[in-house]
Amino acid sequence: MTKGKEYQNWSEKHRVLKFDEIKGQGHAVIELKKFFDNFPHGKKAILFHGSPGTGKTSLAYIARNEYDFEVYELNASDFRNKEQLEMKLKPALEQASLFKRGKIILVDEVDGLSSLKDRGGLPELIELIDGAQFPIIITANKIWDSKFGELRKRSLLVPFKDVDYRDISVILQGIAKKEGLNLNNQIITSLAVKSKGDVRAAINDLQMIASYNNLTNSSELIPLLDERNKEIDIFQALKIVFKNLLTQDSLRIYDSVDLPLEKIFLWVEENIPYEYSGEELYKAYEALSIADVFRGRIRRQRHWRFLVYQNIFLSAGISLAKKKPKIGFTHYQRPTRVLKIWTYNQRDQYKKSIIIKYAKHTHCSKKKANLEFNFVKSILKNPDVQKRLDLSDKEIKYLKELN
Ligand SMILES: Nc1ncnc2c1ncn2[C@@H]1O[C@H](COP(=O)(O)OP(=O)(O)OP(=O)(O)O)[C@@H](O)[C@H]1O
Ligand SMILES: [Mg+2]
Repeated sequence: MTKGKEYQNWSEKHRVLKFDEIKGQGHAVIELKKFFDNFPHGKKAILFHGSPGTGKTSLAYIARNEYDFEVYELNASDFRNKEQLEMKLKPALEQASLFKRGKIILVDEVDGLSSLKDRGGLPELIELIDGAQFPIIITANKIWDSKFGELRKRSLLVPFKDVDYRDISVILQGIAKKEGLNLNNQIITSLAVKSKGDVRAAINDLQMIASYNNLTNSSELIPLLDERNKEIDIFQALKIVFKNLLTQDSLRIYDSVDLPLEKIFLWVEENIPYEYSGEELYKAYEALSIADVFRGRIRRQRHWRFLVYQNIFLSAGISLAKKKPKIGFTHYQRPTRVLKIWTYNQRDQYKKSIIIKYAKHTHCSKKKANLEFNFVKSILKNPDVQKRLDLSDKEIKYLKELN
């Protein structure tokens, strides 16, 4: 099935296709060209390494396009199964004489390969390099682990730099133009800076922003970005509290999150069941309920010093619910209650503004209008009345949804 246009990932859709489109990696482009020119002399493999989203995979594909190479792409799991590996490479070897077209082997993201012989992985890759008949391009994020020693020896090492924010701005501007987005430079620059050299992250953020289509050319976006930054912080904090054992740092972890403790409470509450089960779940809820007691006291009696306790139960209390650290990735959820409270307040606003208009028109007090609201709401549903009170579309919609 074809995906809807709007769901296509922009970092795929707008992936760079030509040597001169790739920014800030001039050195890598030169090294790659030299590597091809020299082959089969010199090293048989070229190893691109650097942070995510800096253009490693893209440069490999660009080489394919510009030289019209045929690419045989291998992934980590191919190395775990010798037969599978041979099967994948067989057509490359067999057709060597049939077509003049050059061939390359791409081994993308070797970070996960194991150095153990029986697990399959690095030893097989080394073997492949030693017997290589075609140039091999390998990509990785980090290559300084000792397990990559042999691989480093056999490969031409080419570092990829984190991409400069000014280059990222230019990339984003190009995509914004193609997508018909009208964003001001300040927003583009702040996206570029925030991505810390990761072009993919910057493009993803741009796409996220574009999905708020009626906001795209206003300054309302800045708070939106801030909100997202805060979410990144709270995700980090939750990860530390839920995954790690207690440390001095985790006690203070929420200090680095720019959200009120009330909101942090909702985030913790929402995510406990995604991380804990059984006994842990019970203990975590116990800590949460004590935090809630303090929360209530703070609210009712303005006992601000209880904030410290609420904070401790939300950090240490939740962290101590487990005995062992947790591994693996957890997709933390945005609290649904926040959304409900927000929608409720929004709706409440319409009620208030309608009451003000009604009170003004009927010359009664706002308090009286408020008390009468339930009796007069059916009258307020009348379009003529709505016109006379000069109600906005949103106020009318609010009335319509009332039963
Ligand atoms: N230096 C760059 N110049 C222009 N665009 C870039 C650059 N680096 C990355 N991009 C764009 O960012 C996206 C991701 O790039 P790519 O997949 O090549 O990253 P990568 O280095 O392979 O990352 P990873 O380490 O996560 O695999 C693509 O859309 C690509 O066009
Ligand atoms: Mg890649």
